Amino acid sequence: MFVHKIDEELELKLPQKHDAEALFRLTDQSRSHLKEWLPWLDFTTKEEDTKNFIAGSNKLYADNQGLNALIFFKGELAGVAGYNQLDWTNKTAKVGYWLGVGFQGHGIMTRTAQALTQYAFEELNMNRVEIRAAAGNKKSRAIPERLGYTYEGQIRQAEWLYDHYVDHVMYGMLSDEWKNR
Ligand SMILES: CC(C)(COP(=O)(O)OP(=O)(O)OC[C@H]1O[C@@H](n2cnc3c(N)ncnc32)[C@H](O)[C@@H]1OP(=O)(O)O)[C@@H](O)C(=O)NCCC(=O)NCCS
Repeated sequence: MFVHKIDEELELKLPQKHDAEALFRLTDQSRSHLKEWLPWLDFTTKEEDTKNFIAGSNKLYADNQGLNALIFFKGELAGVAGYNQLDWTNKTAKVGYWLGVGFQGHGIMTRTAQALTQYAFEELNMNRVEIRAAAGNKKSRAIPERLGYTYEGQIRQAEWLYDHYVDHVMYGMLSDEWKNR
C-alpha cells in the first residue's frame, strides 16, 4: 500500500475500492473542466468505470509499472497524480496529474509534482523524469516550468482529444540536474 505524506496539507495514497464513490463524484463534478485536456472522460460515466480504474491502478502498482495516487488536500480528495509509466529499462518516470474543479490555485499540483520528482530520483533511483502536456495547456505547463524542468520540444498531433489532435510539449529533469539545482 503506497502512502506518502508531502507536507502538513498534502498526502498521496494508492486508491482502494472504498474510494470509488468519492473519486467518481469528483470526476463527475469536474467533467467539463477535465474534458478540455484529458481524453478519458467519455469512458468514465459511472461508478463502475472508476472501480475498474482503481483495480487497474492497483495492478499497475503491484506490477511496478506505474502509480496512480489519490491526492488528499487537508483530508479531502482533490485529484489524482502519479507515474503514468515507470520505464525501468531507461530509468525514466513519466508524471501525470489532474485536479478536481475547485482545487486549482493552491499550489497543490506543483507541490505534488515536486514530491513525485523527488521520490522518482531518491527512492526509485530513476535517471529521468518526464512531464508531457498539450501545448495549449498553460496551467499544466506552468508546473514543470516552476520546478525547473527543461523544455525539450514539441511533438506534433500527439494526442486525439474527442474531435481534434493536440500537439504535446515535453519537459524533462535529469537526476544530476535535480541534485545540483
Ligand atoms: C493542470 C492542473 C493540475 C494545474 O492546476 P493548478 O492549480 O494551476 O496548479 P497548482 O496546484 O500547482 O497551483 C498553481 C497555482 O496556485 C498558486 N499557488 C498558491 N500557492 C502555491 C504554492 N505553494 N506553490 C505553487 N503555486 C502556488 C500559483 O500561483 C498558481 O496560480 P496561478 O495559476 O494563478 O498562477 C489543473 O489545471 C488541471 O487539473 N487541469 C485539467 C487536467 C489537466 O490538464 N491535467 C494535465 C494533463 S498534462
